[in-house]
Amino acid sequence: MSAPLRQGELAEATVVPVALGERAYDIAIGRGLLASLGARIGGLRPGAKCALVTDATVARHHLAAAEASLTAAGIASARIVVPPGEGSKSYATFQQVCEQIIAARIERGDLIVALGGGVIGDLAGFAAASVRRGLDYVQVPTTLLAQVDSSVGGKTGIDSPLGKNLIGAFHQPILVVADTALLDTLPKRDFRAGYAEVAKYGLLGDAAFFAWLEKNWQGVFSGEQSAGNLAREHAIAVCCRAKANIVARDERETGERALLNLGHTFGHALEAAAGFSGRLLHGEAISLGMALAFDFSARKGLIAAAEAERAKAHLAAVGLPTHLKDNPGGTPGVDRLMDLIAQDKKVKRGALTFILVRGIGQAFVESDVDPAEVRTFLTDKLSA
Ligand SMILES: NC(=O)c1ccc[n+]([C@@H]2O[C@H](COP(=O)([O-])OP(=O)(O)OC[C@H]3O[C@@H](n4cnc5c(N)ncnc54)[C@H](O)[C@@H]3O)[C@@H](O)[C@H]2O)c1
Ligand SMILES: [Zn+2]
Repeated sequence: MSAPLRQGELAEATVVPVALGERAYDIAIGRGLLASLGARIGGLRPGAKCALVTDATVARHHLAAAEASLTAAGIASARIVVPPGEGSKSYATFQQVCEQIIAARIERGDLIVALGGGVIGDLAGFAAASVRRGLDYVQVPTTLLAQVDSSVGGKTGIDSPLGKNLIGAFHQPILVVADTALLDTLPKRDFRAGYAEVAKYGLLGDAAFFAWLEKNWQGVFSGEQSAGNLAREHAIAVCCRAKANIVARDERETGERALLNLGHTFGHALEAAAGFSGRLLHGEAISLGMALAFDFSARKGLIAAAEAERAKAHLAAVGLPTHLKDNPGGTPGVDRLMDLIAQDKKVKRGALTFILVRGIGQAFVESDVDPAEVRTFLTDKLSA
């Protein structure tokens, strides 16, 4: 539960700045921060009113506290509640959200508040980018995945029937408030899936953080602050700092930002094969994808086999899948997998782009991968 705060009082927060010039903003991270949402918004946009967009599940747990914080700061708000799940990143729900924002008389100078996981952040962020050619918005991420990844960086959007995230815009929030206590109500499986993205930051660029996670992951999962355990807050702050730095250098993903896709080429193919259903969560697919990226790097002689084993051992220790035979979504044959990989990546002059590694914490973009080599690798993996 969030610690109660008196009006105007700001809970102790770690603040990570995202340096994007005139689009710069802060990510505030800490237990109990939801109570300070109204005061923070009031400080940034005095007099603005808000449309709070959330899903029905998050609403049940946290909407009342969010609204109470806004009310205490004298901020008027309308609520827009959509069904939970990826299905809400649709044209139909997007239309409903936009119409409700307009009906609530949210105008330029007012704010959209996205209270939820990555689905709500992407949907509400895209509505904010679109209504009246762009409204400011605040992210209040409620899943681990959203706190370390989707709420930061300004990618917003919805799904097309032809593919995920194909309709969207870059639109940066003006503030991110990551209250780590909100994760206490998240189902364990969703928390664990989000943890795959936490581990990803260590694996792609920060070997010391990965070693820290190997020792401290249990504290991140429990989130208990008794005995001064700030492991969860520390982990989220490290991830946000890493993403903020990458985004500040490459906002529109023309280069370095692609490193954040470690494990995502293989992972997206597995997600697509499972029909983007609840059978295989995004983070579970990314865990499998990172395991494959490390094994593929080992096979290419880029890293020692023991380094790949170490990466996989940590993912397995927290309960994430690392073997295709453990894929809860079911793994298709190599022909289908290769088709899905080619669709996701668009083969350029016969070559595929993958994020590979020269070690834990040393990912790089390899844009000249021979599809035949990937096919042989996957064939071996599938028969192992
Ligand atoms: N924009 C980006 O940069 C970016 C990056 C990564 C992923 N994404 C997108 O994020 C989405 C996945 O996000 P997600 O994993 O957060 O999924 P989600 O938003 O669907 O949340 C997962 C489930 O948890 C529930 N939930 C959320 N917060 C809760 C809480 N505190 N307590 C209890 N239940 C809670 C939700 O209702 C939902 O059922 C995908 O659509 C993906 O494309 C976007
Ligand atoms: Zn991801």
